[in-house]
Amino acid sequence: MTETVTDATTTTTTTGAASAIRRVGVVGSGIMGSGVAELCARAGLDVVVQVSSAGSLVTGPQRLTRSLDRGVAKGKLTEQEREATLGRVSFTRDLDELADRQLVIEAVKEDERLKLELFATLDKIVTDPDAILASNTSSLSIVRLAGATDRPGHVLGLHFFNPAQVLPLVEVVDSVLTEPRVSDRALAFVRDVLGKKPIKSPDRAGFVVNALLFPYLLSAVRMLDSGLATAEVIDDGMVHGCSHPMGPLRLADLIGLDTTVSIAQAMYEEFKEPLYAPPPLLLRMVDGGLLGKKSGRGFYAYG
Ligand code: 3HC
Repeated sequence: MTETVTDATTTTTTTGAASAIRRVGVVGSGIMGSGVAELCARAGLDVVVQVSSAGSLVTGPQRLTRSLDRGVAKGKLTEQEREATLGRVSFTRDLDELADRQLVIEAVKEDERLKLELFATLDKIVTDPDAILASNTSSLSIVRLAGATDRPGHVLGLHFFNPAQVLPLVEVVDSVLTEPRVSDRALAFVRDVLGKKPIKSPDRAGFVVNALLFPYLLSAVRMLDSGLATAEVIDDGMVHGCSHPMGPLRLADLIGLDTTVSIAQAMYEEFKEPLYAPPPLLLRMVDGGLLGKKSGRGFYAYG
C-alpha cells in the first residue's frame, strides 16, 4: 500500500506495510499514558501499563474507566466495547512485564534523567530485537534518549496530544540515528492501527506543534500578568474570535502548568529565544502548587 505522508519539510511517499504490532507497553498512567493506553486498547491491542507507585495501580484504572464511561456517554463506543477495552489493559508496577512488548511508549514526567534511566532499563528488558522504544516526550532530545540504549536505531518519538484518546494528531519524531524502516513501521502503526494522523516532525525541542503553540500560550500568561485582560476575557477572545475549542489559559491548565513550564524551559534552553521563556507568573504558580486541572486549581478552579 502506498500512502502520502505530511513531512515537516516536504511531502513524502512511504510504503506502509501493515504493522504487526499487537503487544504494546505504556510506561506511566498519568494524563498522557492513560490516554495512549486507552487508544491502543480501543484499537484492539494488548496493553500493559507500568506504573511507579501502588497508588497509581488504583488511580490508573480509575482514570481509564472514567474516560471510557465518558466515551460511552458521548456515543463513541458501546458498553460491550468498553468492557472489551478494559479487558485488554493490565496494570503492573513491574517493568519486567514489558519484556514481550513489540512497542513500548514511555509517558513519564518530563524529566530527562528519569527518561534516560528508563530507556537504559527498557533496553535490557525488552527481548524482541525489532521492538520499538518510543517516547511521548514533548520537548526532550530523542537522540539523547536513543543514546541511553544499545539499539538507537529503534528509538523514536511518538508525540500524542492531550486528550490522546480524542485528538487525531501524532508527531513521529526520528532522531539522526533512527532507522528509516523503524520510522516507517511506527508511522504505519499510528496511521493504520491507531487510525491517527501522523506527521513527521524534527528532533528539535517542541517538534512542530509545541514550537508554534507555546509562544501563544506563554503570551496569554504575559497578557494576564500585565493586567491588560482577565483570564476569562483572554480565553473568550480566542474561543469566540478564532473558534479555538478552548482558550490558551484553560488549555495551559489542561496541559498542566508544571508541564507547560518544563516544555517552555526546554525550548528556551535549545533556542535561547525570549518568546519561549516561562513567564514569572507561571513559575510562581507552579512553585505554589497551582498546576492546573490536575491539582484542582490553575488559572481556573476545578471542582
Ligand atoms: N472518548 C472518546 N471521545 C471523546 C471522549 C472520550 N473519553 N471525550 C470527549 N470525546 C469526544 C466527544 O464525543 C467530541 O467528539 P465529536 O466532536 O465527534 O462529537 C469531542 O471529543 C469533543 O468533546 P466535547 O465537545 O464534549 O468537549 P470535551 O469537553 O469533552 O472535550 C476537548 C474538549 C477535546 C478537550 C476540546 O476542548 C479540545 O480539543 N481542546 C483543545 C485541546 C488541545 O489543544 N490539546 C492539545 C494540547 S498540546 C499537547 O497535548 C501537547 C503536549 O506536549 C503539551
